[in-house]
Amino acid sequence: MSNEPISTGIAGLDILLHGGFSRGRSYLFAGEAGSGKTIACLQFVAARLKAGDKAVYVTVDERPSEIFEAAAAIGWNLQPYIQDKQLIVLDASPYFGARGGGEKGIDPQKIVADLGNYVRRLGAALLIIDPVTPFSLPPDASSPAQDQARSLIQLVQTQIGVTNLLTAQRAPGGAEPTTIAIEEHLASGVLIFKLTETADGYERSVTIKKMRGVAVAPKKYPFTLEQDRGIVIDLPDHAPTALSNPAPMFECFDPSKPSN
Ligand SMILES: Nc1ncnc2c1ncn2[C@@H]1O[C@H](COP(=O)(O)OP(=O)(O)OP(=O)(O)O)[C@@H](O)[C@H]1O
Ligand SMILES: [Mg+2]
Repeated sequence: MSNEPISTGIAGLDILLHGGFSRGRSYLFAGEAGSGKTIACLQFVAARLKAGDKAVYVTVDERPSEIFEAAAAIGWNLQPYIQDKQLIVLDASPYFGARGGGEKGIDPQKIVADLGNYVRRLGAALLIIDPVTPFSLPPDASSPAQDQARSLIQLVQTQIGVTNLLTAQRAPGGAEPTTIAIEEHLASGVLIFKLTETADGYERSVTIKKMRGVAVAPKKYPFTLEQDRGIVIDLPDHAPTALSNPAPMFECFDPSKPSN
């Protein structure tokens, strides 16, 4: 597996992350409803599929057809990737319907084994679970939700081992549910999507709350949603070269060269 970062599909974010995401890690996109989490996932997936990766996308709240429509509304046609067996979209809503997990509970081992089979059969490099929150609900009232969330994410990381994107709903400005705190803790990177009220509506923004191994300020970056481009983060005064190519601090001693 290459150590080269992979593009997030969002040019401004790639600059902020000094290249993009690392393969094999878990990333969490958290935010309130309509803040752009699914669009960000689709933008990443569309870019990776174009680059030749294969992906498994798990939906819970939206039907697969709605995911395709959301992507098509921006200008990304994902249908050919299904036909070419580069993309599988799994609808997990039956798990959570009237006959689903509610009564029996959801076993993280079983979920991860099932997802792992799909990932391996396809040869996928990416797994997206949008949203992961329903999978974090405990099988019975006596089991803590945070244990369920922890075991699910740890199993995904250890047993599936591909780059994975998880989304989680977060109340606007409110206290975080404990499961999100666990998900944020276990993910290598956490992006917070926000809608902030302005004089004439709402402004969208993203904050890199955490990104292991990357020096990045946790500040709010406003973004717009644009046709054919999706999420566009404007970084007018950003000078990426200063951070991504720092001047070497040490010089390696070479006895064959004359010293000065
Ligand atoms: N082509 C488009 N151009 C502009 N805005 C768009 C476009 N497509 C979707 N949107 C906006 O993006 C919003 C949806 O964003 P998204 O589905 O990513 O939110 P989300 O954070 O996943 O929400 P939820 O938690 O409900 O799933 C819509 O409410 C819509 O206003
Ligand atoms: Mg969504």
